[in-house]
Amino acid sequence: MLSGVPVVLFRDADGRARALQDRCAHRHAPLSAGRTCGDGIECPYHGWTWDGDGRLAALPAAGLRGDACRAAHPGLTVPAHAVHESQGFVWVASLSGAAPDAPPLPFPHLDEPQWTSFVMTTRFAGDVETCLENFLDCPHATTVHRYWFRAPTARPVGASVCRLDDGVQASFREEPREKSLVWWLLAPGGGEMQHTDRFIAPARSQVDYRFPNGWAYSITSSCTEVGDDETVVTTVMSFRTPGIGPLVRLYFEPLSRMIIRQDVRIIAARSHNRERFREAGVPPRAEASTQADLLGPLIARWRHDLACGREPLAVAPARETRIYL
Ligand code: FES
Ligand SMILES: [Fe+2]
Repeated sequence: MLSGVPVVLFRDADGRARALQDRCAHRHAPLSAGRTCGDGIECPYHGWTWDGDGRLAALPAAGLRGDACRAAHPGLTVPAHAVHESQGFVWVASLSGAAPDAPPLPFPHLDEPQWTSFVMTTRFAGDVETCLENFLDCPHATTVHRYWFRAPTARPVGASVCRLDDGVQASFREEPREKSLVWWLLAPGGGEMQHTDRFIAPARSQVDYRFPNGWAYSITSSCTEVGDDETVVTTVMSFRTPGIGPLVRLYFEPLSRMIIRQDVRIIAARSHNRERFREAGVPPRAEASTQADLLGPLIARWRHDLACGREPLAVAPARETRIYL
């Protein structure tokens, strides 16, 4: 599913990944229930076959195939999505998205020596903006992930918010990291941690932590809208802990999965609550944001501008602020 629209994904005779809308142009049978063949994908109902570009490749009952088939029925096509493969991922562009032929951004560090990585795929009951804000929102960690990821210290943390060419970024100074399981297990003691949270338009977040001894963690999440209030997130967790990467992974991976499940639950609870109010007929009310919501409103604005074809909002010069964590 992409934005609620069923998509069939298959490999053509050359092994190339292809994606078509999952609906035969004839009687609308699902192509995903058919089979692949040399010409493309064969519909399970009458055997019409569609190539990877969504062009008719065979119409058995009319005795037509290839060019003859297309010449006889030039208007018969199935919408095709641009597909890109990189780093072991298959990316399918949304038909409604801007620049559907743009190749995806690579995940940083995934193939770099010195770095260890693992991938998590998670389904959230929330829209893309909700997910992106959650991944880049520090304050929720002291409640949703209390003592796992952050412990509430109420200490001021300096934050600098700036616009980049491709998104917005918050960087933090003097961030406390004591009294939480994650940092107890994963962070070397002493020295200040460098932490940046970055939104990369249109649908990616990247969180980086760097330590004075050279250790580093980088968490990149790419969001795919699969339906209304439904997002599938691919997260690449990468870390540079020379010499002990596999050992760190042993406890970092289950810990990360546990923490992301906490986010899944709070986002599902929020969506469910919105639905309860909608069903009760309570008039919609805008969400409230404050200066402690560093990136969420900027992400929403940026994505709104992109959707309207406008130049995204400028955040210049950098805005200095503080939040209490
Ligand atoms: S419905 Fe696909 S060939 Fe008839
Ligand atoms: Fe979280």
